[in-house]
Amino acid sequence: MRLHILFLVSVCACVSWAAVISPHHMWSKLILTHHWPETFCSMEHCHPNISYWTLHGLWPDKGMNCNSSWHFNSSLIEDLLPDMKKSWPDLLKPTSVSFWKYEWYKHGTCAAQAESLNSQHKYFSKALELYHKLDLNSVLGKFGITPSDKYYSFSHIEEAIENFYGVKPKIQCVHSSKSADFQSLGQIEICFDSEFTLMDCEKQSTKETFAKVGWDHLRGADKASGFSVCAHDVPVYYPPLP
Ligand SMILES: *[C@@H]1O[C@H](CO)[C@@H](O)[C@H](O)[C@H]1NC(C)=O
Ligand SMILES: *[C@@H]1O[C@H](CO)[C@@H](O)[C@H](O)[C@H]1NC(C)=O
Ligand SMILES: *[C@@H]1O[C@H](CO)[C@@H](O)[C@H](O)[C@H]1NC(C)=O
Repeated sequence: MRLHILFLVSVCACVSWAAVISPHHMWSKLILTHHWPETFCSMEHCHPNISYWTLHGLWPDKGMNCNSSWHFNSSLIEDLLPDMKKSWPDLLKPTSVSFWKYEWYKHGTCAAQAESLNSQHKYFSKALELYHKLDLNSVLGKFGITPSDKYYSFSHIEEAIENFYGVKPKIQCVHSSKSADFQSLGQIEICFDSEFTLMDCEKQSTKETFAKVGWDHLRGADKASGFSVCAHDVPVYYPPLP
């Protein structure tokens, strides 16, 4: 009997200790996702007239829709709105806040489990800060990777990003349904740890990507998003504005 109690006590201590060290709901990685408007709009039939990489989202690696009662309120990020409109535009509905609202519910409420991101202002301003710090648009330009009618080799793009930031990105393409001769550059993910230090992203297969999750609202939950990790041996088209 005595042994039994002792055993129970040690199990309880152990469980609560584990919960403190790594809460099961807590994320450990943030994925900053950029998309290329021209590629996005080739699937969605929009006309963004934007020729720079824009934010798609800041996604924790764990959890989705963590707090549905934490309502999005754009007046809490009033000061960020000019930058939001420029850097994180809703490519489908440029004047709407629905994209930000969606990203907040789906990913922001989960990111907000960390104290560093536990308000709408902290979450959106951190995403903008990381986006500007990475400055992906200039980095690609420095390596001679600019929107063009000529094709790039995938390794040229991947190596440029990896060498510059010192971590592995995840790069996704849209594979043409008509031709196997090229793939269009669509999305670039760069990852951070919970201290906002760069870290490697994982290359997941198409089915489990967060990208698909992130795009569900646009295309219907059952449809594939059209994005998957770029193939290494297929030329990459980085579409300029028409
Ligand atoms: C697209 O943007 C450029 C530069 O901002 C501008 O000069 C041009 O008029 C715009 N085109 C359309 C169709 O809005
Ligand atoms: C969810 O959000 C509401 C509104 O901000 C907050 O009062 C509540 O504590 C949150 N719940 C959890 C579990 O974080
Ligand atoms: C949004 O936030 C503002 C500023 O804190 C507040 O005054 C307003 O009541 C909020 N709106 C809603 C719908 O919660």
